[in-house]
Amino acid sequence: MKYQNQLKSLSWAAIALGMSYPAYSQTSLKSAYQKDFLIGTALGTSHIEERNETANLLIKREFNAITPENIMKSEVIHPEINRYNFDPADKFVEYGQKNNMYIVGHTLVWHSQLPRFVSKINSPDSVRLFMTEHIKTVAGRYAGKINSWDVVNEALNEDGTLRKSVFLNKLGEGYIKEAFELAAKADPKAALYYNDYNIEQPAKRKGAIDIIKKLQASGTKIDGVGIQGHWSINTLNLKVIEDAIVEFSQLGIKVAFTELDLTVLPNPWDLRGADVNQNFEGSPKMNPYTAGLPDSVQVTLAQKYEDLFKLFLKHKDKISRVTFWGVNDGHSWLNGFPIRGRTNYPLLFDREFKPKLAYKSVLELKSAK
Ligand code: XIL
Repeated sequence: MKYQNQLKSLSWAAIALGMSYPAYSQTSLKSAYQKDFLIGTALGTSHIEERNETANLLIKREFNAITPENIMKSEVIHPEINRYNFDPADKFVEYGQKNNMYIVGHTLVWHSQLPRFVSKINSPDSVRLFMTEHIKTVAGRYAGKINSWDVVNEALNEDGTLRKSVFLNKLGEGYIKEAFELAAKADPKAALYYNDYNIEQPAKRKGAIDIIKKLQASGTKIDGVGIQGHWSINTLNLKVIEDAIVEFSQLGIKVAFTELDLTVLPNPWDLRGADVNQNFEGSPKMNPYTAGLPDSVQVTLAQKYEDLFKLFLKHKDKISRVTFWGVNDGHSWLNGFPIRGRTNYPLLFDREFKPKLAYKSVLELKSAK
């Protein structure tokens, strides 16, 4: 109700009428939340190269932490067995340093976006050599510059068992400990995180807790857990998120929300009985907001973000960082995943880089105090 009224209020109208972004807000996310946790964003190549002045101003003004969306993944940074492509990552790190930002490395060991040569590797020894050289070289190059590494990404299945990745298949479950040890050796100062999606959900959470406890029991350094936070306005479950924050932090580690976005579109897996492999591309039912986001959905999105940040603030002593997965709606990967070619609205800034009602709701949680 509150937002229904605000939607009609003057300031909102000013945004809708195209009032320019800096004129609208006297504060920013990073300054409002300065005493609580870092506020981050994921950067693509165009951001790192500062191609769009509006985007650049917005990033510097609103965020104090950055994660590379793709350019530190092994397929990009390590395309051939003996060749690394450091240029984009060097620029990313320079961008963070020059703007005094907290710099996150994403990610060292992941089953996805691997270089092609890895699929041709057969022997366990060769997989171990790839992983070892990769971590030593990449984490070593940025040692002292990267503040935090997502060391292992998405090692779990939904039921909490370990995902049968090339690393698990060839090296056994000890690969996780090996990866963390290699990262700690290559960059002793970086905070080391285990990162995954849906690990707030009980079964998968149990799997993550297992991983963390085993690392701790063997004296391996792990500083935090990253809950990705790819959620939906239709199914957001604050209770499980709160339980996860509390349980993870009881292990003596920090919790970060590393890839936050809230889809407003239907997901294929929400449709009961729908075949996930069915082709939904081009279906208007799955892409309802091509002409703009209806006010009612804008309001729901703002309300969900408010609920979420209220919860984050309640547990701010346990949370190190909240990072959005992208700068603005136009940039979000959710326009292309899980169905290509859709128009999604999952972030706090719209396609013109203007703050949405959700931005206001997140900021006002702080100014209300
Ligand atoms: C996504 C990127 O946003 C896309 O541009 C890319 O095509 C695929 O990967 N979990 C992760 C992120 O850890 O690295 C993924 O990023 C989103 C899911």
